[in-house]
Amino acid sequence: MLHSALINVMVKAARRAGRGLKRDLGEIENLQVSLKGPANFVSLADKRAEQMLYEDLTKARPGYGFLGEEGGTREGADKSNTWIVDPLDGTTNFLHGIPQFAISIGLQREGVIVAGVIYNPANDELYIAERGKGAFLNDTRLRVAGRKRLNECVIACGLPHIGRGDHELSRREMTEMQNRVAGLRRFGAASLDLAFVAAGRLDGYWERNLQPWDIAAGLIMVREAGGIVSGIDGHDNALETGHVVCGNETIQHELVKILKPL
Ligand code: IPD
Ligand code: CA
Ligand code: CA
Repeated sequence: MLHSALINVMVKAARRAGRGLKRDLGEIENLQVSLKGPANFVSLADKRAEQMLYEDLTKARPGYGFLGEEGGTREGADKSNTWIVDPLDGTTNFLHGIPQFAISIGLQREGVIVAGVIYNPANDELYIAERGKGAFLNDTRLRVAGRKRLNECVIACGLPHIGRGDHELSRREMTEMQNRVAGLRRFGAASLDLAFVAAGRLDGYWERNLQPWDIAAGLIMVREAGGIVSGIDGHDNALETGHVVCGNETIQHELVKILKPL
């Protein structure tokens, strides 16, 4: 399938860094038995992946800015374009050898996300989206699920880690949702949660306190698959607030109705 030069640049970078992460995953499986586990190894793998992405993306598009989870902001001469990159989303999964993690690359142009690539090297699933051109999983066009009744829906969420976020609020959310949905899931990689909504595997997803690199690529993925993404208040502010609610129009609306008053 033919994609734009821009998408080709993003895919090439994601695949190269992905090859590295896949090799590292093999090593991690061996390290599980050691008492300390593979934590240091993973932190190096993460940094190596970001460095590779930085090199490939800035070589192909010199001057674009770069915001990465590991290295922070690196300004470019071109103030209109910024890569927003998570070199390894789903670190805890990766650390435990669970093959649900991804490289996430978004491109922000004049404040708007115009392209996204999410790649899970463990199963070779590659998601791409470009503004106005649709979303794809390995060249198959994506469309969000069509279910309208919440009690038939499988919904994913995030759970705040130890020492982070509001655990009490999170428990209230769980209780409300458990009473209303067919199934609740927590997969552990925000970029893939969004990609799964785009692919119609999940009917919806919400999570609070995310970072731009967790969601930049996923936001455009869901939107280009015909879904709606908002903040918890229902407004178009997910990237700014870090709070995300999404699904088809009906389900996103239903989720906001439940979450907003909590
Ligand atoms: C995390 C994952 C996880 C989400 C966390 C994120 P990381 O990213 O996306 O699903 O619940 O809030 O920080 O740390 O694995 O890149
Ligand atoms: Ca992340
Ligand atoms: Ca990360």
